[in-house]
This record gives sequence, C-alpha cells and structure tokens, in this order.
Amino acid sequence: MKIFIDSGSIDEIKKAAASGVIDGVTTNPSLIAKEGKDFKTVIKTIGELFDTEHSAHCECPVSAEVVSIAAKEMIVEAKKIAKIHKKVVVKIPLIPEGIKAVKELSGLGIKTNVTLCFTAAQALLAAKAGATYVSPFIGRLNDIDQRGLDLIREIKQIFTNYDIKTQILAASIRSPRQVVEIALIGADVVTIPYKVFEKLFNHPLTDKGLKQFLADWDQYKKTQ
Ligand code: G3P
Repeated sequence: MKIFIDSGSIDEIKKAAASGVIDGVTTNPSLIAKEGKDFKTVIKTIGELFDTEHSAHCECPVSAEVVSIAAKEMIVEAKKIAKIHKKVVVKIPLIPEGIKAVKELSGLGIKTNVTLCFTAAQALLAAKAGATYVSPFIGRLNDIDQRGLDLIREIKQIFTNYDIKTQILAASIRSPRQVVEIALIGADVVTIPYKVFEKLFNHPLTDKGLKQFLADWDQYKKTQ
C-alpha cells in the first residue's frame, strides 16, 4: 500500500519525505488556505521536492484541487493546474459536473483524483469516468456515526469484481489503527496527516525495549 501525506505544509511534507517511505502528497483547498501561501508556488515546490535523484524510484504524485464547480470551468482550471508540475494529479469533487470533467480530462491524459467520495455508488461513477484515483473519506463518515471502513470494503469488492484500474485512495484518516485496517482491506493508497504519520512509528514497548538494550550494553561495555 502506498502512503501519501495529506498536507499543504512544505515543512511537514519535507519532514515526512525525509523518512524515505512517502509515495506522494495530497492537498485540498482547506489545507492550502491554512498555510496562507500562493497555491501555485506551494504545488510547484512539492512537485520539485519529489523530483530529485533520491525520489527517482517513486512516481510520487501531488494532488491539487480545482475550486470551480461547473465542468467547463473545471476542465480549464484542471489544465492549468496540471501544467504546474509533471507530478500533479488534479483533484475533482464528486458531483455530476465533476464526473463530466473527469471523463473529458481522462480522455486528454490528465490524471485525476476524485475527492469527497462517501458512497460506493459514487466511487463506481468516478471509475467509469476514468479517474486515476478515488478518495473515500473515512474519518468524516465516522464523524457522522457511519462506518468509514465499510465504504473501503465495498469499493474494494466492486473494483475487484470488475478488475477496475482506478486506485482506491483512502482519505480523512484519524489514527494509525485506521491505516492498518485500510491495508488489511487492500486499498491502493492511504493519505494521512503528518500527526498520524508520526504516530505510525510509536509503541511504548519499542521505547522501553530500546532503553533496556542500551542500558544493558553500557553495563556490558564496562566489563570489557
Ligand atoms: O484531503 C482530503 C481528506 O484527507 C481530508 O481529511 O481530516 O479534513 O477529514 P479531513
């Protein structure tokens, strides 16, 4: 399973990328707005960050979202966004106009990530339009007392049934356990906020065990 960072912060993305285990980045208008910097500059900088010899092995797509809501305008905006950097994937909201735009953009060879997906029926429409990725939002479903992971399960089953190539990009992630559950179901990608990424490394027994190993080693060295 690929791991993307869901952030508009260059600092967070740099820190996560330094681990060597990040496969891409997703942003959204809220994340970009939070940083208060120029959209184009931020997306270009992220693209360049993953376009080095160290990232040569990695496709490392960078999702950047349109803010138009009519297909015609979305297509114009998507073409401009796609030109910011070769790693850019254009994020399109899952509304009827968005699906129309995705159909046209996929015909033009522009990669898309269909966002704000909350049902398997919506995911099927995104796939039929030729989306590269579809982003089901787990945390936001859980927030309204629905089962986010069931959505991933349903989409996985449908995409497997019909050998659909659109990648399942699980989004709106709140905890490391959700990442594990998503991997068990078999999503292609999970995109996680930096705070959750940091938590993936942690277990108190790892810290305790390391402390003990180092203390025992110190004692042993004194006897040599
Ligand atoms: O970027 C899309 C998604 O991951 C947003 O997550 O935490 O705002 O529900 P969240």
